[in-house]
Amino acid sequence: MSRDGASIPGPRSLALGDELAGVECPAFARRRTGRSGADAADAAPIVLQRGAGTTLVDVDGHRYLDLAAGFGSVLLGHDHPKLRAALHAQVDTLVQGLGDVYASDVKVALLGELAALIPGGDGQALLTQSGADAVTAAMKTASLATGRHGFVAFDGAYHGLAHGPLAACGFKASFREPFAPQLNRHVGFCAYPGVRGATAAVSLEQLRQALAATPTAAVLVEPIAGRGGCVVPPPGWLAAVAALTREAGALLVVDEVWTGLGRSGSWLRSEAEGVAADVVCLGKGLGGGMPISACVASRAAMAGWSSGEVIHTSTHAGAPLGCTAALAVLATLREERLVERARAVGEDARVALRERLAHPSVRDVRGAGLMIGVELDSARTALGATRELLRRGYLVVTGGVDGATLTLTPPLTVELDELDGFGAALLACLEAR
Ligand SMILES: Cc1ncc(COP(=O)(O)O)c(C=O)c1O
Repeated sequence: MSRDGASIPGPRSLALGDELAGVECPAFARRRTGRSGADAADAAPIVLQRGAGTTLVDVDGHRYLDLAAGFGSVLLGHDHPKLRAALHAQVDTLVQGLGDVYASDVKVALLGELAALIPGGDGQALLTQSGADAVTAAMKTASLATGRHGFVAFDGAYHGLAHGPLAACGFKASFREPFAPQLNRHVGFCAYPGVRGATAAVSLEQLRQALAATPTAAVLVEPIAGRGGCVVPPPGWLAAVAALTREAGALLVVDEVWTGLGRSGSWLRSEAEGVAADVVCLGKGLGGGMPISACVASRAAMAGWSSGEVIHTSTHAGAPLGCTAALAVLATLREERLVERARAVGEDARVALRERLAHPSVRDVRGAGLMIGVELDSARTALGATRELLRRGYLVVTGGVDGATLTLTPPLTVELDELDGFGAALLACLEAR
């Protein structure tokens, strides 16, 4: 992957990057500039054009090992033949149905698969379009089921930026603050073990207090803090959260948008932790890159939707292309045993990375399955490393509440030696500083 001397971004990326800055909402160019180092060229983005397997190619023909995989959504890798064939066949058959009025055959099939996915296998599902949309549906489900409107969320949590989940965004208060008057005021935040040094005991005590302070519809929790830096809470913590939640008469909404469907080495991380959530949110990898997500709940939790004239839907919710993509993803995960593969490859990769990255700037290598966090000594080091890694042919993004963690979410088809190549390249970047 390495191509010493090549100028990254190349000329076509630079030209398109300029064009982008002129026509896109300025938030993104502002963020790029804010993150750049001393050299303004550090802010210029590459512009992507093609992908195959674990490789992405930009408009200048530069190739990258894709360790971000569409923020974790490209579970099967780019252009997987089974997903491609299913999508082509669906394009030839039916692109748009009539959502919640007249379902398509593939929508019925997908709902059946999702309903069976939660512990007990007897759930019901609501199809949505993004992770934030799935969490919004989950929050509404909890309010309808309990008649309450309070929520408890966690420090470092990221559930998407639509107004419902934004109120529960513990990742960055600055994402919430300009919109505070529009957001649910009944959201309490508790510490998340491992985020800003919090312990499980402190987290649980804060949860106890938050549940006592407000009538709570649901506790909304990521089983691993994804965007918060791939922070894995200690075993038993999620089960303790579930127990306190039930005692308070609230629902447990587990946001598996990132962790679910094999990403963390299990179909559902919560189930692997011995926890049966009332509501599970799925997204990202569900469509393998197509925009589809789901709120899957027990029948009891869904029962609140059975009375009154209330629905959660949208024009493209449950549209045939997304449903077909999701069916192909679920089938391929099973056929190619990618969930088990993610668990094994991820475990081996973390061992190898820990060994290789014995460097003073590396604070931690952690994660589960193929969500891997490499925490560096500062956000500056991490951002510098992403730019340098790009030049060496590795595409990685940063995460964590302080931005110091390189967050790897490669396709579940990634090879161990590709991840080892990343480790060698990162070490070379750190040593060259
Ligand atoms: C755990 C979790 N929930 C929800 C979301 C929001 O998903 P989307 O960006 O598709 O709205 C994300 C996105 O990163 C996430 O990590």
